This record gives sequence, C-alpha cells and structure tokens, in this order.
Amino acid sequence: MGHPIITNKFIVTFISVLLFLRTESTEPPFSCDSSNSNTSSFPFCNNSLPISQRVNDLVSRLTVDEKILQLVNGAPEIPRLGISAYEWWSEGLHGVSRHGKGTFFNGTIKAATQFPQIILTASTFDEKLWYRIAQAIGKEARAVYNAGQLKGMTLWAPNINIFRDPRWGRGQETPGEDPMVVGKYGVAYVRGLQGDSFEGGKLKDGHLQTSACCKHFIAQDMDTWNNFSRYTFDAHVLKQDLADSYEPPFKNCVEQGKASSVMCAYNLVNGIPNCANFDLLTTTARGKWGLQGYIVSDCDAVAIMYTHQGYAKEPEDAVAATLRAGMDVNCGSHLKKYTKSALEKQKIQESDIDRALHNLFSVRMRLGLFNGDPRKLEYGDISAAEVCSQEHRALALEAARNGIVLLKNSDRLLPLSKMKTTSLAVIGPKANDSEVLLGNYEGYPCKNVTLLQGLQGYVENITYHPGCDFTNCTSAAIDEAVDIAKKADYVVLVMGLDQTLEREKLDRTELGLPGMQERLVTAIAEAASKPVILVLMCGGPVDVTFAKDNQNIGGILWVGYPGEGGATALAEIIFGKHNPGGKLPVTWYPKEFNKIPMNDMRMRPVSSYGYPGRTYRFYNGPKVFEFGYGLSYTNYSYSFASVSKNQLHLKNPKVNKATENSSVLNIAVSDVGLEVCNNAMITVKVEVKNGGEMAGKHPVLLFLRHSNTVDEVPRKTLIGFKSVNLEAGANTHVTFDVKPCEHFTRANRDGILVIDEGKYFLLVGDEEYPVTVFV
Ligand SMILES: *[C@@H]1O[C@H](CO)[C@@H](O)[C@H](O)[C@H]1NC(C)=O
Ligand SMILES: *[C@@H]1O[C@H](CO)[C@@H](O)[C@H](O)[C@H]1NC(C)=O
Ligand SMILES: *[C@@H]1O[C@H](CO)[C@@H](O)[C@H](O)[C@H]1NC(C)=O
Ligand SMILES: *[C@@H]1O[C@H](CO)[C@@H](O)[C@H](O)[C@H]1NC(C)=O
Ligand SMILES: *[C@@H]1O[C@H](CO)[C@@H](O)[C@H](O)[C@H]1NC(C)=O
Ligand SMILES: *[C@@H]1O[C@H](CO)[C@@H](O)[C@H](O)[C@H]1NC(C)=O
Ligand SMILES: *[C@@H]1O[C@H](CO)[C@@H](O)[C@H](O)[C@H]1NC(C)=O
Ligand SMILES: *[C@@H]1O[C@H](CO)[C@@H](O)[C@H](O)[C@H]1NC(C)=O
Ligand SMILES: *[C@@H]1O[C@H](CO)[C@@H](O)[C@H](O)[C@H]1NC(C)=O
Ligand SMILES: *[C@@H]1O[C@H](CO)[C@@H](O)[C@H](O)[C@H]1NC(C)=O
Repeated sequence: MGHPIITNKFIVTFISVLLFLRTESTEPPFSCDSSNSNTSSFPFCNNSLPISQRVNDLVSRLTVDEKILQLVNGAPEIPRLGISAYEWWSEGLHGVSRHGKGTFFNGTIKAATQFPQIILTASTFDEKLWYRIAQAIGKEARAVYNAGQLKGMTLWAPNINIFRDPRWGRGQETPGEDPMVVGKYGVAYVRGLQGDSFEGGKLKDGHLQTSACCKHFIAQDMDTWNNFSRYTFDAHVLKQDLADSYEPPFKNCVEQGKASSVMCAYNLVNGIPNCANFDLLTTTARGKWGLQGYIVSDCDAVAIMYTHQGYAKEPEDAVAATLRAGMDVNCGSHLKKYTKSALEKQKIQESDIDRALHNLFSVRMRLGLFNGDPRKLEYGDISAAEVCSQEHRALALEAARNGIVLLKNSDRLLPLSKMKTTSLAVIGPKANDSEVLLGNYEGYPCKNVTLLQGLQGYVENITYHPGCDFTNCTSAAIDEAVDIAKKADYVVLVMGLDQTLEREKLDRTELGLPGMQERLVTAIAEAASKPVILVLMCGGPVDVTFAKDNQNIGGILWVGYPGEGGATALAEIIFGKHNPGGKLPVTWYPKEFNKIPMNDMRMRPVSSYGYPGRTYRFYNGPKVFEFGYGLSYTNYSYSFASVSKNQLHLKNPKVNKATENSSVLNIAVSDVGLEVCNNAMITVKVEVKNGGEMAGKHPVLLFLRHSNTVDEVPRKTLIGFKSVNLEAGANTHVTFDVKPCEHFTRANRDGILVIDEGKYFLLVGDEEYPVTVFV
C-alpha cells in the first residue's frame, strides 16, 4: 500500500507545480483596459461620467445579438469593445464557496475561511458579528478575484426566506424563523459584504466591494414534500402573512441593506411565477423599496415556466413574461435561446432588453470592473494573504463559540474538568469527519479539524467509535459502542443529521433523530458510569424529548454545522474554556408536527381545523425547545430598570378605528402619522446581572406580548436583541428603543399594518412590564 501512495504524492506535487506556474499568468477579467487604445477612449470607459450615462453609451454600441448573449449568467466577452466575459453566478453564503460557476480553487488560493452555517451564526443574536463575517467574506472574494480565480464579483447570498417549516432542507442556510432577526441578518450581511459601514450609507458613489443578493424572492421555503416540488409549487399566501412574515426580510435587505441584487424564486405565489410577477419585482422591489441593482432568476426558473409550470404556452412567452416583469438576467440559458425569436414574434421589444442590460452593466461598473485593471484601483490591494488570515480564522472560531447552544445541563455536569477527565469515549458516525461541519454551499476550509480532533486537544485517552453505519443509522453497533462507553470516564455522543438528510432539493420526512440513533444513545446512556453528553449536529431542529427527559443524559449541546472553527469551539465549551451563550433561532417542534402539510403556507393557527400555526409567533402546540432558548454556565437575571412610557395614545381623530372579527379595536400605522409615531417611542432600560461564577457573552432578547390571545395576533414578537459581555458577578444596562409603529404592529387580513388597542407586556426572561395602547 505504501508505494502507490508515494507515487501519487509525486504526481500531485508535479501537477501542483504546473498549476502554480500557469496561475502566475492568470489575471482577473475586466473591461476598459487603458493599454488598449481601440477601446479605452469610449465614453463608457470614462470613469468621470455618471454610471447611467456610461451604460447608455455602452448599450447603444451593442448589436441585438450581442445584447441577447448578455442576458444569461455566463455572459461572454465582446472583444471589439474590450468588454470582458462575466460570470454572474458565484456563491458565498458562509465563506467563499466552491459552488456556483465563478470560483476556481485551482490556482494559488486553495481554500477560503468557512464560517458556521447561517443557522448557527444566527443563534449568536449579534448583528456586529454578522457584519464582521460578511465583511471578511467580501474581502476574501475580492482577494480571490484579484488572484484571477473568480470570474465575477456577484455572490448569491444571503438566503433570507424565513425558516417556516422545520423539515425544510435549506432551513440551515437561513437565520431562522423570526422575520425581524432574518431582516437584520440580511442587512448586516449585505452591508458587510458590499463594503458599507455597519450603520449603512457609506458606499462611495454606490461602489461595491462585492455584490450581495437577497434570495429567494418570495415564499420559497419548501423544496420537496410529497408530490410538491419547489419548481411547480403554487404557494397560496395570505396577504396578511405576506405583509408581516414573508416580505419584511426582503424589504429590509433592499431598503436598509441597499442590496445590489434580488433573486426571484422558482415557485409561484397565488398563481404567478415569482420571476414573472411585475407587481413583486417592479412595483414592490424596484418601486416601493428602491432596489438599485439587478434581478436574477433562480437557476432555470425561466425555462420551467414553459417546461414544468405550463405558465408559458411557448418558450418565448417565458422570455416576455420575465423581461416584462422586471427580471434582468437568467441563470440558465433560456434567454440565450429564445430572446431572438421572442423579438421576432414581437412578444418583447428591444427596449425590454435594454432595460435589463442597464441594470446589469451598472452593477459591473459599480464593482469597478470598467475602469481598467482593478488591481490598481480601490480594493485592488486586497491580496491572497487576506484569505484564511489569522484574523478571519479567529472570527470563524468566535462565531462557532458564540453560536453553540447549551440545551440541557443537569446538575451542572458541564463543563468537564480537563484535569479530572481521565478518559473519554467519543461516539458518532460523523464525529471524525471535518466536511460535515461545513453544511451546504461550502467551500474548501483553511484547515480540516474534526470534532474528535478538537477533543483530543483536551484529553489524551480517547476511544472513538462511529456507533452507526451512516448518519441515517440504518444499523448501529450498539453492543460495541456500549462496551467502549462503559469503560470510559465520560462519554460524548455526536448525533444528528448531515447533508444526506437535509439539503437543497431534500426536505426531511421526519423530525426525530434518524434510524437507530435514539436507541443507540439510550443504550449508551444507560450503560455509562456517569451521565453522558449529547452533541446534536443539524441545521433543522430534531425532537429529542427522549434525551431531555432521560436522567442519564446530563448535557445536550446543539452545534448546527459549526464551520471550520467548530471543533475547537465545541471542545472549549465542553471543557469550560468558553461559556456558551447561543440561543435557538427556531422553534424545536415535536415529531407530531410532521402531520402538518408542508405546503400549508398559513402562519396563523386555524383553531377550527386544528391547524397549530407556525413559528413561535403563532404556533400554539407543544414545543421541545422554544425560540430564544439557551442555557449557559452561569445565571443571568433581568429587571426593567426604567421604561419611559407605559401608555401610548395613538388616536387620530380624523380616521375611523376599525375592528376585526376578534373585536379588537385597531388603527392603521399609516393613519397614525409620523409625528405621533416618533413621539410614542419608548426607551426601555433592562438591567442584566451575571449571577454565576463565569464570565459570559449573553444575548438579551426583548419580546412583546399582547394580552389579547386571538389567532390573528402574534402570541409574542421579538422586538429587540443585544449581546453583552459580562464578568462573573457583574451587571450592566441594555437600552432598547421601542418604536410602536414598527414593533407593536401586525398585519390585518388586507395586508395592512395595524396597531391593536389594549394591554401589552414587554418581556425579558420571566420579567414583564405592562404598556397600554389607546387608539
Ligand atoms: C481552473 O479551472 C478552470 C475551470 O475548469 C479553468 O478554466 C482554468 O484554466 C483553471 N486554472 C488553472 C490555473 O488550472
Ligand atoms: C485594435 O484594433 C485593430 C483593428 O481592428 C486590431 O488589429 C488590434 O488588434 C486591436 N488592438 C487591440 C489591443 O485589441
Ligand atoms: C471624461 O469625461 C469628462 C467629463 O465629461 C471629460 O471632461 C473628459 O474629457 C473625458 N475623458 C476622456 C478621456 O474622454
Ligand atoms: C402523489 O402522486 C401519486 C401519483 O400521481 C398519487 O398516487 C398520490 O396519491 C399523490 N400523493 C399525494 C400525497 O398527493
Ligand atoms: C480521524 O480522522 C483523521 C483524519 O482523517 C485520521 O487521521 C484519524 O486516524 C482518525 N481517527 C480515528 C480514531 O479514527
Ligand atoms: C480538507 O479536506 C478536503 C477533503 O478531504 C481536502 O480536499 C482538502 O485539501 C483538505 N484541506 C486541507 C487544508 O487540508
Ligand atoms: C443511508 O445512508 C447511506 C449513505 O448516505 C446511503 O448509501 C443509504 O442508501 C442510506 N440508507 C437509507 C435506507 O436511506
Ligand atoms: C484509557 O481509557 C480506557 C478506558 O476508556 C482505559 O481502559 C485505559 O486503561 C486507558 N489507557 C491509559 C493509557 O490510560
Ligand atoms: C442558577 O439558578 C438556579 C435557580 O436559582 C440554580 O438551581 C442553579 O444552580 C444556578 N446555576 C448556576 C450555574 O449558577
Ligand atoms: C370573520 O371570520 C369568519 C370565519 O373565520 C370569516 O368568514 C369572516 O370573513 C370574518 N369577518 C371579518 C370581518 O373579517
């Protein structure tokens, strides 16, 4: 066996040398090369002219055939005008990704920092951290581009569909189920990636470090369920739910984040494919929200209108429907094939194409790709050394540490003492796999470390056993694993899911642990000399009621897919070098939730049908763990130090108050008036005390609860969150600006935001503070 390996190594080394030599000559694609006298004098190359003028000049020089080829993700070069090729499709959900068509890791750069999968990053409830991560990804993307290994600077992230159903295979990519959290995550990501400041408004002349894309617009949060697939699913979405659940993240991402792109989703909403929805793309995103940028179809979303959805009678109808709706570029090739014939059949006009090209070339210019060699311009000095830098890898570790959620810790089993732990049994099919830690849309990490290897840094004597054949655990070596567990001082079980069980195009079919995992865990817990520690690796929630109730399972930790820093972070938490502070960004539902049809898009419960509703805001059934739940190694206590108002008068004598079925009196936010809204702001000061013996980083979550408990009204709503660092025994004040016209609202059945009259409670931990609203 030795010889072939050595031979392979030689070959690999030889090839690497060849690759290295070849990459020396690669350069990033750009237009308007100043050394090309044929083209550099065109007005579209003149950086002192406004971008719209430059784009008009450029588009006016193109032939119809040239124009058409620019309408797809793989846009070819136009040599006679010195315009380079451009690949619109690159990915960067939680690190520069190897997926998409634009990135190549075959040059000098072989890896990029892989941050935790978003669902775990969300559980830090730390906007500044989200921003810093996106900043790092944007910078690494620029570095990869400058090295000639990225063929476009447009990344198709973030994924800001709310995690509506626990079975969704792509829930892992999202910041969870709360529209406000998801919206704030989107804003932080976009600002960080694009080179804006944390507060926003600092993009010089709209210039972009890297372009971000808010996806998937809209109501795409199911991939496969029974006979439903995302390609043909017609989501029936109520105006009410659209207004206060599905739309807010996108509105924030575009309005506040100033994202330079939106991706329209595959599915139909109320009969209209998203990419053919004028009202959605043009009236709402571009019109009401002021989108400056390009709208891209999800990949092949145009073709399927003809091939799968029966929406377009002829291929050309799909071209017309999308270009007329306001889509600018087709991921796929449908527009390349059928735009010419759509013109010939007069289903579109050339001006429809020009409109799209205007948006497309504007973004390329804002990225600085029409100003000559970008390595000599702004962002040009971001070098390969920025990729996988110490700083970025430390940030990946920090995110994993602060995201991991402690779900159970009976009798303070955790943290374990490094000194006193003489041996450890580590059991789990993926406990010694580094790739699983990344989640989907991953890239190549700077360093591969498995959870087992992380723990080996703390305990010398570790015995490892996979326990199951695969993560689906169709067979388990229970006896062998029990034997190993019996002999060890402590046992760490690494269970949960992986990408074979939840991913894009694959939603889960059950909510418990897969296969024989539960039996394996229970048998080991029974046999072990001390209570065991259960580590759950998964994006979506799993029903682990059995473990919650089992005294022999002393500790439970949820690690999401924690990225390349995950192994170190978990070991630091288990051995008390770090105090966990993450909180769940999704409700953990019991197995019975699987009975609820996944295609039912209603957020609110319908008591008469036994439909329980969705997410902590509306769901009225039993829970395994609540949204916002998470323990730590210390105790935090809260009190309302001061609340500037406990009564809000939002009366407007000029308008009639409305009532709904529930007979709750309410007023439309738009009728309250800006001045009254501003005057109604409440300043809430919460005192937080760390009453334990360990310093910790702790997110403080402020909720609002309405005393009226009709199905129409959210049970509670998160209205603010802030993360604080607190030494043992220390206390501090956290201030929240509560804006009633934002935070006290819900949508009525017409999709209009209203504020209900009545008594509300501000909630932090178990503390409540009443506020009464009069309309
Ligand atoms: C890297 O791969 C891409 C796509 O296969 C190819 O076009 C490019 O030439 C390769 N670069 C090197 C340095 O091999
Ligand atoms: C400029 O145009 C001429 C004539 O079309 C061509 O021969 C020459 O190669 C072009 N130069 C560059 C740098 O593209
Ligand atoms: C670029 O545009 C500016 C502003 O119109 C103009 O003054 C300048 O001469 C132009 N430069 C070139 C090289 O054409
Ligand atoms: C799915 O489709 C198959 C075949 O068309 C049909 O027999 C089955 O009843 C369908 N299932 C559901 C849940 O609609
Ligand atoms: C864990 O994985 C690493 C890297 O693949 C390997 O070197 C090591 O032998 C494995 N450890 C065990 C106990 O299987
Ligand atoms: C990590 O593992 C992957 C898959 O085995 C491998 O392709 C990659 O080269 C490794 N990266 C490093 C930095 O060792
Ligand atoms: C279990 O997972 C393995 C590896 O992914 C796969 O080959 C196998 O088909 C799965 N078995 C079942 C029953 O799903
Ligand atoms: C390692 O731990 C096992 C129990 O898991 C024990 O049987 C063995 O003696 C220990 N080995 C050493 C070298 O301490
Ligand atoms: C936290 O407080 C509870 C109840 O007062 C107590 O039982 C528990 O031991 C405390 N835990 C820590 C880590 O201080
Ligand atoms: C009241 O509720 C019923 C049944 O839920 C519904 O049919 C009716 O339209 C509602 N009326 C109003 C005014 O919303």
